[in-house]
Amino acid sequence: MQFKTIFTTSALAGIALAANNSTLTTATPSVTKDCSFSDFTATNSAQVQQVAACQTAVGDITIYGDAFGSIELTGVEQIFGSLHVKNATQAVTLNAPTLQLVSGTLELNANTILQNLNLAQLTTVGSLNFNALPALEQTGLTAGITSADSIVIADTGLTSLSGINVYELKTFDVNNNQDIDTIDSGLQSVTDSLSISYNAEKVDVILDQLTSANNVFLQSINSLSANNLTTVNGSLAVSSSSVDEVQFKGLTNIGKSLTINKNDNLETLDFPKLTNIGGALQISDNEHLRSFDGFPELKTIGGSVDINGTFDNGTFESLQRVAGGFNLKSEGDVSCDEFKKLNSDGDIKGNKFVCSNADGASSSSSSKKGSSDSTDSSDSSETGSSETTSTKAKSSSKDSGAASHTGKLGAIVAGFAIFGVALY
Ligand SMILES: *[C@@H]1O[C@H](CO)[C@@H](O)[C@H](O)[C@H]1NC(C)=O
Ligand SMILES: *[C@@H]1O[C@H](CO)[C@@H](O)[C@H](O)[C@H]1NC(C)=O
Ligand SMILES: *[C@@H]1O[C@H](CO)[C@@H](O)[C@H](O)[C@H]1NC(C)=O
Ligand SMILES: *[C@@H]1O[C@H](CO)[C@@H](O)[C@H](O)[C@H]1NC(C)=O
Ligand SMILES: *[C@@H]1O[C@H](CO)[C@@H](O)[C@H](O)[C@H]1NC(C)=O
Ligand SMILES: *[C@@H]1O[C@H](CO)[C@@H](O)[C@H](O)[C@H]1NC(C)=O
Ligand SMILES: *[C@@H]1O[C@H](CO)[C@@H](O)[C@H](O)[C@H]1NC(C)=O
Repeated sequence: MQFKTIFTTSALAGIALAANNSTLTTATPSVTKDCSFSDFTATNSAQVQQVAACQTAVGDITIYGDAFGSIELTGVEQIFGSLHVKNATQAVTLNAPTLQLVSGTLELNANTILQNLNLAQLTTVGSLNFNALPALEQTGLTAGITSADSIVIADTGLTSLSGINVYELKTFDVNNNQDIDTIDSGLQSVTDSLSISYNAEKVDVILDQLTSANNVFLQSINSLSANNLTTVNGSLAVSSSSVDEVQFKGLTNIGKSLTINKNDNLETLDFPKLTNIGGALQISDNEHLRSFDGFPELKTIGGSVDINGTFDNGTFESLQRVAGGFNLKSEGDVSCDEFKKLNSDGDIKGNKFVCSNADGASSSSSSKKGSSDSTDSSDSSETGSSETTSTKAKSSSKDSGAASHTGKLGAIVAGFAIFGVALY
């Protein structure tokens, strides 16, 4: 059961990984049957030694259980497959100083007292998943990872992400690490999801090399710098954060929705080059935001507009078209004139038009011809609201252990799914 009886037949299964410099392609090699593992689970040190004895191991390997104080993998250099170290609840040390490559997933999960991690030569992984490692303060990545598809770091005691030097990823998810107070990343492109949430209360996020991303979710962050970001193909959300400014100096286009909500200290929005939001725009429940100015070039919104707060000022100087409805509720005295005109000119395509301020409500269900043709609020505002829901689900996950666990599992499962698509 522990060994495949035949040599690996997947010798030609190539894998392509994004590297920090280029695309690295590796093929699974042939190995002797001693080093060909098939869903091998090691529950004692002698079994771990069988893996360590292989310079190159092929197959999926799990190291599991409470029989280890120290897990010694010195010797193994490459694993073509995945390595899971799970629930090794007595392990203080994991030593894999010679390991350079794990083509599948390297997962460390629920190793509750793991303190010393040595991955000194590891440069290449398919997916790196660290989860529930409360005693782990350092990544042990001395050489540093330069090639990966997906990185998920959740619920660890890490104080920094040092050694994660990739510049292109599909998934980057860093959540619930209470001691990470700075994330300064050289990432240039994240093609599926970039998510940073609920780390140290005051986490400063620096993504100055990032130029292109798909979905970006930032929660519970203290500051953000992403001045090279020009394109967000999916949705962008900044919520439940202590930022006083949300600034994306170079951003010209958001493919789906933009959500800015529950940022209690937020005072300024600055999107000087943004011309298009493909989905909904939501700016809500930002206690100290008095103006929603900050979108001087915004011409089109492909979904609905939903804005509330105490606004004294706010205009969209360049706005020409809103495909969905328009709902602005202000407790301050921001003027509705501009938006009423946009609505009466037929440039707000959705059925719903509400604009109210401290002076009173002004709302209507527009009866414009053609409003029924619309894809408008239905499609796009659904996108918007489903995103809002997921944001909320995550934010409430902080308060409930069970929910939080599910959320994280979801994120990790999503990570696996992406990884699967990418590699096989
Ligand atoms: C790119 O990175 C890989 C692995 O990190 C390395 O083997 C290769 O030499 C690097 N290529 C260049 C051109 O730097
Ligand atoms: C983890 O290991 C502990 C014993 O060390 C055991 O009681 C527990 O059931 C294990 N958890 C899982 C999910 O396997
Ligand atoms: C690429 O990886 C090398 C080696 O870890 C690192 O020195 C370099 O800073 C990385 N480059 C980028 C752009 O992240
Ligand atoms: C933007 O990226 C370029 C090249 O990648 C870099 O030289 C520059 O410092 C970045 N800008 C900021 C504001 O960091
Ligand atoms: C965003 O979309 C453009 C155009 O389709 C594409 O070239 C780019 O790679 C995408 N970026 C990401 C991060 O997905
Ligand atoms: C503001 O709008 C959001 C999203 O539509 C909504 O959930 C929230 O209840 C609103 N807040 C107030 C004070 O009306
Ligand atoms: C609102 O606009 C007025 C005049 O344009 C300006 O004096 C005032 O400072 C603005 N208030 C805010 C909160 O931006």
